[in-house]
Amino acid sequence: MASDLKLLHSLYLVIVFVVFQTLTVSNSDVLPSPDYPEVVPTSPAILSLPEPSKSQLRSHPYVRPPKPGIRAAYWPSYSSLPASAIETSYFTHIYYAFLVPSPTTYALNVTSDDLIRIPEFIHALRSKTPRVKTLLSIGGGGSNSTLFSIIAGSRAERGKFIKSTIDVARKYGFDGVDLDWEFPADDVDMANLAVLYKEWRRGLVSESLTSRKPRLLLTSAVHFAAGFFHDEPRSYPAREMSKYLDWVSPMCFDYHGSWDNFTGLHSALNDPNSNISTVYGIGSWIKSGIPPNKLVMGLPVYGRTWKLQDPKVNGVGAPAVGVGPGDEGTLVYYKIIEFNKKNHAVVAFDSNAVSFYSNAGDSWIGYEDVPSIRLKVRFARSLGLGGYFFWALGQDYRWAISGEGRYLILTLI
Ligand SMILES: *[C@@H]1O[C@H](CO)[C@@H](O)[C@H](O)[C@H]1NC(C)=O
Ligand SMILES: *[C@@H]1O[C@H](CO)[C@@H](O)[C@H](O)[C@H]1NC(C)=O
Ligand SMILES: *[C@@H]1O[C@H](CO)[C@@H](O)[C@H](O)[C@H]1NC(C)=O
Ligand SMILES: *[C@@H]1O[C@H](CO)[C@@H](O)[C@H](O)[C@H]1NC(C)=O
Repeated sequence: MASDLKLLHSLYLVIVFVVFQTLTVSNSDVLPSPDYPEVVPTSPAILSLPEPSKSQLRSHPYVRPPKPGIRAAYWPSYSSLPASAIETSYFTHIYYAFLVPSPTTYALNVTSDDLIRIPEFIHALRSKTPRVKTLLSIGGGGSNSTLFSIIAGSRAERGKFIKSTIDVARKYGFDGVDLDWEFPADDVDMANLAVLYKEWRRGLVSESLTSRKPRLLLTSAVHFAAGFFHDEPRSYPAREMSKYLDWVSPMCFDYHGSWDNFTGLHSALNDPNSNISTVYGIGSWIKSGIPPNKLVMGLPVYGRTWKLQDPKVNGVGAPAVGVGPGDEGTLVYYKIIEFNKKNHAVVAFDSNAVSFYSNAGDSWIGYEDVPSIRLKVRFARSLGLGGYFFWALGQDYRWAISGEGRYLILTLI
């Protein structure tokens, strides 16, 4: 088992290497090449690329009829980006984030804010070209994990919960529902989660037969790896997930953060010193038995920041004494761009992790930029994954990150 994993891991390293070779050739104009000094200055050329227009995308020499790859993004309902401003040509699916169940009735709690925002969201996206599908996402990072444990663990509560998700989705006109339970705490939760997925799918199928509407999609955002330790070891119910979910979305980010007293690349593709990496995580999902085309890889549009102990010790893994700029140690992409520019930050590309980091004084930020997103999307395509998703809308800088993904998908076909 361990040696199988090791083999798998080596295989991915080889793929990544091959992907790199390809990219160094085809995208040498934007990617830091091996001849660059280790620390490369911010390239204004990358940052000032205009968004491709729709007609440019159409006339791009490599453009073929779009392949049905998933290009999803979450829209936090508190976002300052109005749903009407979402540029849908970059996406196929948009998630409304989040609703949570009531701790007393186990039905979804549509708050007074949601009563206004959901109809606005659905209406705004319905009037867009191209059309995207909409999903209602339930849970989220800040939601109550124990509540999901209670719901998943009881037949009666599962029933109330499932019925309410269908009622809400149909009432407002969503195309699907998504569960983001962070995280099932042990293997009992995981076993109950398997039953929840099964009954949920069954509920969706039977509702569709009755309503004669297309079945609602069922998806789930999950830990970056299929099995993991925090206090307890646990493994996701991969067999049931393959069977009952339309796709599975590993969140390939937050590998490091304010909880570490050293700097880190929170969405590293590889990490030579640990298994906390996307290559390991995605490999573990494939190994668990989820077909690659049912995996939709998560990508962050935000970075994680630290305050350095010593501004002169500023590499990956440098000692830190707290969080850096932003909101509790997170900074969204467009603000990173502003920060780097304003503070003349030194920007570096870590070619092993396929991530960027920047440093100005005692501030340190680990993040994704256009070339690293481009490479990660290529990585996903090279494994035949179903697609990718972003957390989150409203964090991008002039659609630079969102747009590179689309450009890549088109050029790869
Ligand atoms: C729904 O959420 C609102 C806002 O958080 C809260 O005030 C209310 O008590 C909740 N209702 C139920 C039934 O849980
Ligand atoms: C989470 O939900 C459980 C079950 O309803 C409740 O006992 C607990 O107080 C909740 N925790 C928080 C932080 O709200
Ligand atoms: C990574 O995971 C494998 C398999 O679970 C294990 O054998 C190996 O020791 C881990 N490596 C590190 C650096 O944790
Ligand atoms: C970070 O935490 C580790 C373990 O708690 C400790 O040994 C180390 O001294 C800490 N480093 C800093 C810079 O605070």
